[in-house]
Amino acid sequence: MVMGINGKFPGPTIRVKVGDIVRVDVTNKLNTEGVVIHWHGIKQRETPWSDGTASISQCAIAPGETFTYRFTADKAGTYFYHGHYGMQRSAGLYGSLIVDVADGEKEPFEYDGEFCLLLSDYWHQNVHQQEVGLSSLPFRWINESQSLLMNGRGQYNCSLASRYNESATLPQCAPNVLSVFPNRTYRLRIASTTSLASLNLAIGNHKMYVVEADGNYVNRTEVTDIDIYSGESYSVLFTADQIPYDNFWISAGVRARLPQTPQALALLNYIPTPESKFPLSPPPVTPRWDDYGRSKSFALNITAAAGTPRPPKSHERRIVLLSTQNKFNGHSVWAINNVSLSLPVTPYLGAIRYDIKDAYDQTPPPENFPDWYNVSAPPANPNTNVGDGAYVLVNGTTVDIILQNANMLEPGASEVHPWHMHGHDFWVLGYGEGRFAEEDEKRFNLTTAPLKNTAVIFPFGWTALRFVADNPGVWAFHCHIEPHLHMGMGVVIAEGLDQIRAMNVSRDALSCGLTGKMFAAEDARRRN
Ligand code: C2O
Ligand code: CU
Repeated sequence: MVMGINGKFPGPTIRVKVGDIVRVDVTNKLNTEGVVIHWHGIKQRETPWSDGTASISQCAIAPGETFTYRFTADKAGTYFYHGHYGMQRSAGLYGSLIVDVADGEKEPFEYDGEFCLLLSDYWHQNVHQQEVGLSSLPFRWINESQSLLMNGRGQYNCSLASRYNESATLPQCAPNVLSVFPNRTYRLRIASTTSLASLNLAIGNHKMYVVEADGNYVNRTEVTDIDIYSGESYSVLFTADQIPYDNFWISAGVRARLPQTPQALALLNYIPTPESKFPLSPPPVTPRWDDYGRSKSFALNITAAAGTPRPPKSHERRIVLLSTQNKFNGHSVWAINNVSLSLPVTPYLGAIRYDIKDAYDQTPPPENFPDWYNVSAPPANPNTNVGDGAYVLVNGTTVDIILQNANMLEPGASEVHPWHMHGHDFWVLGYGEGRFAEEDEKRFNLTTAPLKNTAVIFPFGWTALRFVADNPGVWAFHCHIEPHLHMGMGVVIAEGLDQIRAMNVSRDALSCGLTGKMFAAEDARRRN
């Protein structure tokens, strides 16, 4: 079972131009649960209530209700949209969102055609059972997915071959076919909205050139394959330069976890070779899952293209966020600086706009973790706290965030987490091993640091980010692995409180919790 949009899974591709004001009316026809849609990679300048995060930017849209999102497409690039309430993204609530350059503008590279590949993973168990398992005692992990999908298609048992034998009857079981003319160059827009999997994608016999990452142009880099974590997007160029003409496999397989899921496959078809011709070479083999050295060098090779704004030379505030796996009342959770995020009923944006102090904990969470904490050993005390405090940023401040990874509950274990920030791109200043120390700052890349909205932390390492708090609103910043976020792996950033208080926050976004009560009381007074 999946959640679809307009009768489709994945949802329809939305394609707009820079400067367009995009209006999307979302009607919730799920009978038993709320829904919201987040526009992943869109900054939502001056429209923070259209960010689509339940409990943060708005109330979940109740069954039967319609909510209108209205926002400006601020930057050309490859994006996607997805549910952001409970684990609805895992349930299939997602689609591609492409922003083209404005009329009269040109991309800084040329190509003859393009394709979108939206990557995801798929479980047979429905997402509600998964959610219940994650919060149960004993804990039930979701385990590895049954399939990996490209544009919603994957393989499981027999389905792959169905189109290629005589008894073929199910075209929806066939892989995506990307048909190309020989010697032409194509742009492949790749985005990952996986719930769990970190992926590696390759095109058999073809080199690729990375040109875009998370909606930002990057220095053209030649690669044989790309690592792509949940929440990231890349554009690569490739030329159909193989002779003789044939068909080739495009494959995506699991990295950073022991793979137990078959690769996702799509077919690269050279016109006029028939689509039904089986490729001569097997699908590209995914690099070893635990070859982190390879992943790190891929990450370091992504640098900002000329013309990208450079990071400010120094920071005004530094927040260190330690990610740990913990216990809360016996339940398994993830925590950041010893606080596991549990979202409040009233959206932060409304609570701040109307100055409702009891909507969430007014004490911001810790900015660092104790010196004595050993990131290379399991937590000395596995227990943690649960909270809903927010980091408050003064408008205009240059902020560094150091994401610090650590050992999990099990000795010797630490895993990858792709952190995604709403409302901003950040510069990725560097990666390092072990615990971040002040002198590591000397190694920051202040010249070619790429701008991204998602960056990974490697096992037992740290990742340094910098951004300017110039977008008033309330923004989620979290691990994009759906079960991790569900288990508390995220923080909330409240930016420019004075500016928010002066904003015309859409009332439709705030019809629940304490803001909802306030509006109802106002209406009642008006009626009397
Ligand atoms: Cu695509 Cu808050 O995430
Ligand atoms: Cu995570």
